[in-house]
Amino acid sequence: MNRLSLFSLLILVITFKVSSAQSVSERTHQNFDAGWKFHLGHATDFNRDFNYGLGNIFSKSGETAGTALAIDYDEKGWADVTLPHDWAVALPFKYVKNDDLDSHGYKPVGGLFPENSIGWYRKTFQVNRADSGKRFEIQFDGIYRDSKVWINGYYVGGNFSGYNSVKFDITDFIRFGKKNVMVVRADATQSEGWFYEGAGIYRHAWLNTYNNLHFKPQGGVFVHAVVNNNKDAEVTIETSLENRGINAASATVLSYITDRNGKILVTGNELPFSLAVREENKLISKVKLKSTRLWDIDDPYLYKAISLVKVNGRVIDSVQTRFGIRTFTFDSNKGFFLNGRAMKIQGVSCHQDHAGVGSALPDELQYYRIRLLKEMGVNAYRTTHNMPTPELLDACDSLGMLVMDETRLLTSGQEYEQQFRNLILRDRNHASIFLWSIGNEEYATHRTDIGKRIAQNQILLQKELDPSRTCTYAANMGNVFKGVNEVIPVRGFNYNLNGLDGYHAEHPDQPIIGTEVASTVTTRSIFVKDTVRAYVPDYDLTYPSWASTAETWWKITEDRPWFMGGFAWTGFDYRGEPTPYRWPNINSHFGIMDMCGFPKTVYYYYQAWWTDKDVLHIAPHWNWPGKEGRPIDVWVNSNADDVELFLNGKGLGKKTMPRYGHLVWSVKYQPGKLLAVAHKHGKTIKASVETTTAPVSIQLLPSKKVLLDNGEDAVIVNVSVLDKKGREVPDASNLIQFDLQGNADIIGVGNGDPSSHEPDKCETGQWQRHLFGGKAQLIIKAGTKPSEISLTGSAVGLTPRKIVLLQK
Ligand code: GAL
Repeated sequence: MNRLSLFSLLILVITFKVSSAQSVSERTHQNFDAGWKFHLGHATDFNRDFNYGLGNIFSKSGETAGTALAIDYDEKGWADVTLPHDWAVALPFKYVKNDDLDSHGYKPVGGLFPENSIGWYRKTFQVNRADSGKRFEIQFDGIYRDSKVWINGYYVGGNFSGYNSVKFDITDFIRFGKKNVMVVRADATQSEGWFYEGAGIYRHAWLNTYNNLHFKPQGGVFVHAVVNNNKDAEVTIETSLENRGINAASATVLSYITDRNGKILVTGNELPFSLAVREENKLISKVKLKSTRLWDIDDPYLYKAISLVKVNGRVIDSVQTRFGIRTFTFDSNKGFFLNGRAMKIQGVSCHQDHAGVGSALPDELQYYRIRLLKEMGVNAYRTTHNMPTPELLDACDSLGMLVMDETRLLTSGQEYEQQFRNLILRDRNHASIFLWSIGNEEYATHRTDIGKRIAQNQILLQKELDPSRTCTYAANMGNVFKGVNEVIPVRGFNYNLNGLDGYHAEHPDQPIIGTEVASTVTTRSIFVKDTVRAYVPDYDLTYPSWASTAETWWKITEDRPWFMGGFAWTGFDYRGEPTPYRWPNINSHFGIMDMCGFPKTVYYYYQAWWTDKDVLHIAPHWNWPGKEGRPIDVWVNSNADDVELFLNGKGLGKKTMPRYGHLVWSVKYQPGKLLAVAHKHGKTIKASVETTTAPVSIQLLPSKKVLLDNGEDAVIVNVSVLDKKGREVPDASNLIQFDLQGNADIIGVGNGDPSSHEPDKCETGQWQRHLFGGKAQLIIKAGTKPSEISLTGSAVGLTPRKIVLLQK
């Protein structure tokens, strides 16, 4: 055996010892999404709220007879649901003249609709007696909102926020070997934002168990690293432990670092500690790693830290933490640097909802959306205006997307300070997070002394909990210093870019980032203003009074090395905030992509200047029957040096592409082929749009063909129709019906039409959607058995299309 293989064997033995030791660790993290029952309650009628408000729920511990909290409550008439679940998205749209309803996208939830604003959930589960002696914890990653949680009739806690994750210790209330019932009441009467927020347990739930001596549930392990120019890093692993047992305990804590494949790279010192009953302690371990592979947007390399608690050599708790090694520099004169490399923030702000599913996204959709953004050239994501779901951050860590993580409100009262604390403790190990945000556009507060004091409090809290990063505030004001801006480490500009130069001149030491910019409004595939259907042309032209075109803000950014770039509002359309029109619009037009993630014209502007790809895109499509001989504005977005346009072979002129601009031709419409020929560094690139004939068949494009049979996986299927030459028909509006066979479900449909009032959710067997601008989308969620899944799309007069997916 040579030295190398002896060494590998040694590593194998060590790895095996550690992993076999790990398996005796008592910590489990069990998905708790399946098997829930759901029923709407009522916000003003006690009788329709399962006696909540009349029954004496809080006067005696565990006494709940006559309410939906009772263990043996009869669940007749309750629906079966699997989390994530958003009950609002399944409601029909309803028009009432009311600002709150308008901003929430006309889904009838809130004060005007008490019958739709309370949701009750029940879940029955068993726990083996053999597990008694452990600690039990229920974790909800997000419930909208004001939720209360009981187990076996015992109240365990509430969560005021619709966005914060919470964990409740439920150890004392478990009935071993018997039926246990978890009950959640969510009250969505009040809203928290001015955008669609959903309703219900719309993120995952987890049942966690661990030893009485354990890493703390909140912020138990924090891993951060400093790295020098040679990429040698010092990694700090902070472990916070607590003893919830009935005896004092002595133990050791040990952490080691592995590469992403689990190979151990370095092990820290084993640190002994003792904890009295209910005592907590923090232990810090530092290890050195040579020639590290840095986490970057193009190479999002993640290490793992494994932290163990051992008693007499036996592992009794273990936590695995993914982390990245990278540097962020915010320079007031030179802008932002990732790993020492100057980088403009090519960012987007996003809300969390998606077509068809509202705010209850399968994890796969998080990855799908981040991939779409990366293809467009986005390098940073702002989680407006709230704590995101952890899977979004996982996707950003894995795919290489910087994140600005934002708390809901700029205020420091107990509730909101706790929310911000929770945000940092939950999220600080994510490699992708480069900046915290302490809030957004607090007009009553941000120019005042109170605003300054609140900000100061939150900034200090952030530094205490995460000294490795800094923070900003999304300030909708120009050259104004008084208030929050006096103390904020990184000045955030929401719009008001005419105040940039003055502010920078007066405060040259404060780095500046565009926390929110653009807010351009466009409707995908619509090129003529339509005030009846409430559509805005799909050119980079229209924006509200406070906003600008994409081109305006990006040119400003490129002209100023000290301006870090920023976050365009928004990456995707979202429900609610219909602008500039209201009803019949039910969603915003701000997206660079629509609600389904289909690109609008402005997408290609960004892609041209944010990537190195060969971008050459013509807008609009070329199906304009009845417009023969009339002029049409043709926009070409490209990063080529020059572009020449041809209609049916006839040259329409060659133009030089202005840097960070676009080109326009006025073309008299004739059906046929509009061809763009461009030159980029001596290379020829071509793109064209063609007049199609009528659709004859359906096209179904799945995001993948193989699913996991884990009840959580999902496939996104994009739908369009083709003419006899196989060309997509860009203005088609056919009604497509979907039939799914196999162990999976369709969970939502959409088409990106901001004025569509068609249902996002249909009855089983009746799924359908019209195309909008030639496109629609459906989302399939995996079942739990191996299965062949066939999806058929059919429409009157068209050849149907069937695709087969494999679930295993
Ligand atoms: C901003 C606000 C966003 C959104 C946007 C629309 O002022 O922060 O939430 O409302 O305007 O342009």
